[in-house]
Amino acid sequence: EKGGYDSYMMKEIYEQPNALTNTLIGRLHDDTGEVNLDINLDPASFKRISIIACGTAYYAGMVGEYLIEQLARIPVDIDVASEYRYRDPLVSEHTLAIVMSQSGETIDTLEALREAKKFGAKTLGIINAKGSSMTREVDDTLYIHAGPEIGVASTKAYTSMVSAMLMLALWLGRARGTLTEDQSRELLHAARELPRLVEESLTPERVENVRAIAEKYADARDFLFLGRGVNSPTAYEGALKLKEISYIHAEAYAAGEMKHGPIALIDEHMPVVVVATESKLLEKTISNVQEVRARKGKVILVLSEGDTENARYGDDVIYVPRAHEMVSPVVNAVALQLLAIFIAEKLGKDVDKPRNLAKAVTVE
Ligand code: F6R
Repeated sequence: EKGGYDSYMMKEIYEQPNALTNTLIGRLHDDTGEVNLDINLDPASFKRISIIACGTAYYAGMVGEYLIEQLARIPVDIDVASEYRYRDPLVSEHTLAIVMSQSGETIDTLEALREAKKFGAKTLGIINAKGSSMTREVDDTLYIHAGPEIGVASTKAYTSMVSAMLMLALWLGRARGTLTEDQSRELLHAARELPRLVEESLTPERVENVRAIAEKYADARDFLFLGRGVNSPTAYEGALKLKEISYIHAEAYAAGEMKHGPIALIDEHMPVVVVATESKLLEKTISNVQEVRARKGKVILVLSEGDTENARYGDDVIYVPRAHEMVSPVVNAVALQLLAIFIAEKLGKDVDKPRNLAKAVTVE
């Protein structure tokens, strides 16, 4: 049932082009630049958005926060569900609370949803599992349609959630007039490319390159992951994947934060994975890379295909297909999933059953 793969996790990594197709299908209208999400939300009925989730879903939410604020200009806060429940959040009937969850059963997220409802928030679920508890309690659900995810470490649900968030941001931006038809068309086109770009990320040549880099660094005790802007969550998610399945200590920072502390950790034993794909901020990211190199840190760069200019700043380079910056978190996440799984496999870990973890956390 693993379809010839060694693990569910690997199978699910390779299912991503399909999962993304299913997330996007029927929802993008190129001719008009509109997105049809079939949700009954009135986009004029709330003044702020609260995103609530745990773990990987939380990192997908961070990308969502960035996209919604950029494209729809609505103030967004994001909370890990276990904090939201207990922090007496500012929530009212003018709040849209968005819960994000693969399983739809995570107890912290479910209880946070109930808390938001208590104060009159409108609620939307971005959820994978059909008919799950959360889908029965939210006002409306935007299903991601990624298909069943069995590997404990979330992969395809992450990239599908990020894509769903992009569509939601586009929909909100169009409805609220912050995006022109042309801007919307451009982004819609970029979204439509995602299944193909991820498929291209998984060609044997690219995968083997990541495997070789993973094997080279599998003995490291710690890893640092850096990214900026819409790809700072990509760094967090990359570090989480590595921790979960390889048990290597990994931390992630927004690249500009490094000089405010974590740079003290860097020496020749510290591999630093830097997401440095095409972006307005690329030059700044590269100057962060130079700070790492000056302290003899080993740099693994994730670069856009064809960026030979910046390749010289990396000890190793993972090239990913070129993508519009706003969709690049999806493409970049795939490279970091591969890095994590190959490191874990090299160390002989059972990636489908990481110690101490369960697929759905239904106890507090
Ligand atoms: C990470 C992982 C966990 C889950 C988290 C939320 O790979 O699997 O961090 O993302 O427990 O789970 P859901 O999305 O089911 O609410």
